[in-house]
Amino acid sequence: MNIAIDGPVASGKGAVTKGLSIRLGIPALDTGAAYRAVTLFLLDHEIDIYDEKLILMNLNRMDLRIYMAENHDVRVFTQGQDVTPRIRDNRVSLAVPVVAAYAGVRDYVNHAIAEVASQGNFILEGRDIGTVVLPNAEYKFFLTASLEVRAKRRKADLDAKGENLSLLEVMQQVKARDEQDINRTVAPLRQAPDAIYVDSSNLTLEQTIDTLAKYIKL
Ligand code: DC
Repeated sequence: MNIAIDGPVASGKGAVTKGLSIRLGIPALDTGAAYRAVTLFLLDHEIDIYDEKLILMNLNRMDLRIYMAENHDVRVFTQGQDVTPRIRDNRVSLAVPVVAAYAGVRDYVNHAIAEVASQGNFILEGRDIGTVVLPNAEYKFFLTASLEVRAKRRKADLDAKGENLSLLEVMQQVKARDEQDINRTVAPLRQAPDAIYVDSSNLTLEQTIDTLAKYIKL
């Protein structure tokens, strides 16, 4: 059984997916981590994120791998190095929508995701899981929240990492990333027609997990 959870930046997908995974005993796979690892590789190697041709030429040497740790934590590796601790840096967050818009990058990442997903049942979290990656998933959710709530959540994450930006700046960044994810031509962020819509603006994390869990019959 596969569960697809899609939604915009800071919609709470990560935390909700993790909570649901623990509750249901089904491992979670954060597909954004793979796009982030590819982006980090490009930044580390000073490869221009707007040079699609150069990026595609470099995909083969990246050796992107996704592993599931014992505690169900996802670890992402490029060239044999565990890059997980650095994939959520803000410079990666700002560049990743550009990189995730390239069809060649999406094919490459989807291949790595498919390799892991074929190993069992998963809760997959991303932008195009219900629409492209797992159109036949048994359960599909589209999780969102208001821009203000999402910006506040994102700011709290950044503050915890010591990256201090004003709420207004974070709100502008979240809005810009939404626009990039929604307006790209390949696999844009969309609610699948058969996905259950959940707005978590006025829900706690536990309430959001409860809302999703009540739909799922194991
Ligand atoms: O969920 P996140 O912020 O970690 O996602 C990082 C980026 O990757 C985001 O800009 C959208 C992109 N992404 C995507 O295009 N498709 C997915 N399935 C997952 C993430």
